[in-house]
Amino acid sequence: MPFGGRLLPLGGDGGEAVRLDRLLSECGLASRSEAARACRAGQVTVNGAVVRRSDLHVSPETDAVVFCGRPVLYRRFVYLMLNKPAGYVSATEDGGSAVVTDLLPEEYRRMGLFPCGRLDKYTLGLMLLTNNGPLAHRLLAPKSHVTKSYAFTVSAPLGQREAAMLEAGVDIGGYVTRPCRVELTGPDCGIITITEGKYHQIKRMMEQVGVRVTALERLTFGPLALDPALERGQWRPLTPEEESALEALAAPSERV
Ligand code: URA
Repeated sequence: MPFGGRLLPLGGDGGEAVRLDRLLSECGLASRSEAARACRAGQVTVNGAVVRRSDLHVSPETDAVVFCGRPVLYRRFVYLMLNKPAGYVSATEDGGSAVVTDLLPEEYRRMGLFPCGRLDKYTLGLMLLTNNGPLAHRLLAPKSHVTKSYAFTVSAPLGQREAAMLEAGVDIGGYVTRPCRVELTGPDCGIITITEGKYHQIKRMMEQVGVRVTALERLTFGPLALDPALERGQWRPLTPEEESALEALAAPSERV
């Protein structure tokens, strides 16, 4: 894993004091009972002093908590970029099928990370995972028009005429898609950039111009671009710049 096992904890509201066991469990470091055991064993310090009671209240932003020798770095929200491989469902559980959160270490799953939006089971590429529900909700709202680009390969050659039809909008079963951009990079492949996210949208759009999608990979999502250093199935936290760009995009618009 590219993230070298460093823990990226989070908490509730950073301004409030929270129970130590809750902090450690929300940070994904331990279950509450494990946190209690670690405290009893003298493995937890707060501001340099060993704390044996896990019901102690601490301030996640100002108290220096160390768990088993590792500083607990308070993060309210976590954002990861995953290079989704084929065969994984974009969900946190799916009745026994492999899901994208299976690719993350246990501590992230404990933190409640979920995929922001869906890719089909065999679609590859950029997937954002976060535990910031309100931000995900805003990014996914139809009116947000967040840009997503996909590299596609289709079952038969596609010409400029078909590309122009896709760009203008096609009827995918009672809904006419918004204008988009299509760049053909070969006879049967290209990059399509859309600003919405209807169910199976690219596949259904391609069907309307007489071809079938045979491969699909998401390259961008809003300001995020798939990191070429990530192998399929690998993930990394967003950089601070990527996080800020995402938060700026999702910020509620000012009313005048
Ligand atoms: N459009 C599709 O058809 N499938 C995806 O996974 C994403 C967009």
